Amino acid sequence: MTVTSELPAALERIGRVELATLPTPLHQAHRLSEELGVSIWFKRDDLTGIGLGGNKVRTLEYLLADAISQGCDCLVTGAGAQSNWTMLAALTAARCGLEPFVVCYGDPVPDRGNLLLHRGIGTSIRFTGDPERSSVDGGMQELATQLRGLGRRPYVVPRGGATPVGALGYVRASLELAVQLAAIPDAPTTLWLAAGSGGTCAGLVAAAVLLRTSYDVVGVTVSRPVAEITAQVAHLATAASELIGMPVEDPTVDIRGGWIGPEYGAASPEGDRAAALVARTECVFLDPVFGAKAMAALIDACRSEQLAGPVIFLVSGGAPTLFSAAPRSAGASR
Ligand SMILES: Cc1ncc(COP(=O)(O)O)c(C=O)c1O
Repeated sequence: MTVTSELPAALERIGRVELATLPTPLHQAHRLSEELGVSIWFKRDDLTGIGLGGNKVRTLEYLLADAISQGCDCLVTGAGAQSNWTMLAALTAARCGLEPFVVCYGDPVPDRGNLLLHRGIGTSIRFTGDPERSSVDGGMQELATQLRGLGRRPYVVPRGGATPVGALGYVRASLELAVQLAAIPDAPTTLWLAAGSGGTCAGLVAAAVLLRTSYDVVGVTVSRPVAEITAQVAHLATAASELIGMPVEDPTVDIRGGWIGPEYGAASPEGDRAAALVARTECVFLDPVFGAKAMAALIDACRSEQLAGPVIFLVSGGAPTLFSAAPRSAGASR
């Protein structure tokens, strides 16, 4: 039996709550491909069918199953006020009967974008008052201790859902993609995506090794230094593959830097231009924090590296931040 054929059965043994509408479409981005001179395909995980969609729905399918199997009655997680992750975590936890609690770094901000959606569903939110992203980690532990003191059983998930269990979502997505790729004429060379906390990239990297894919996974960091996210992705890929009993040792991780722009969470001029091009050519809106910056990196590679296609681009969602009134660059209109 090949590694490839063992993988579906190995994954089946891990608990999963069905949340997403799958498979998400894989389609050619014809006009963008013409514009860039490279064949580009979009894997539409903005269309996962929960809330306003996004990659984290796949992550949550495994995390929530784990929470339920541990008998937890609430979920504690955190990130920035405009986090797509916390929004989808709260939404899906509520659907699974777990009360969501969210910790945000910094001070309270106006209810826009994801925060507005949180308010709409009544998520319990507290702000750390500290602008450091890592302040969320201590805040979550403190909150979990308080909840335990009240007799609650919290499931605590780190920022981005970046755990080995969460990374399994994109191991499974890779199987879905493999079926879709079998029906297209040419084997893709690379799969590009935005890397934030790294769980999505880690699942794809682990599966790329296990499935011996034709493509290499290329992550574009939008928040952390290249060395840090490279190590994080490698660690999560190994740990996720160990969970399913198919360990992947020292996977090769390709992370591109230089695309964060002014800072994590703020739009960049290159990202805004990339998003505008994709909207005009493909009628797809990329979010300014993740997708736009990853696309800016891909466009640059197409124009400067003579990249060989076909290329897959993971459209990972994040629609609420299109309406978060994040500072936009003047480049948006160019
Ligand atoms: C829209 C969107 N794309 C990409 C990512 C990056 O995923 P990861 O944190 O797993 O690297 C995120 C993370 O929240 C996201 O919200």
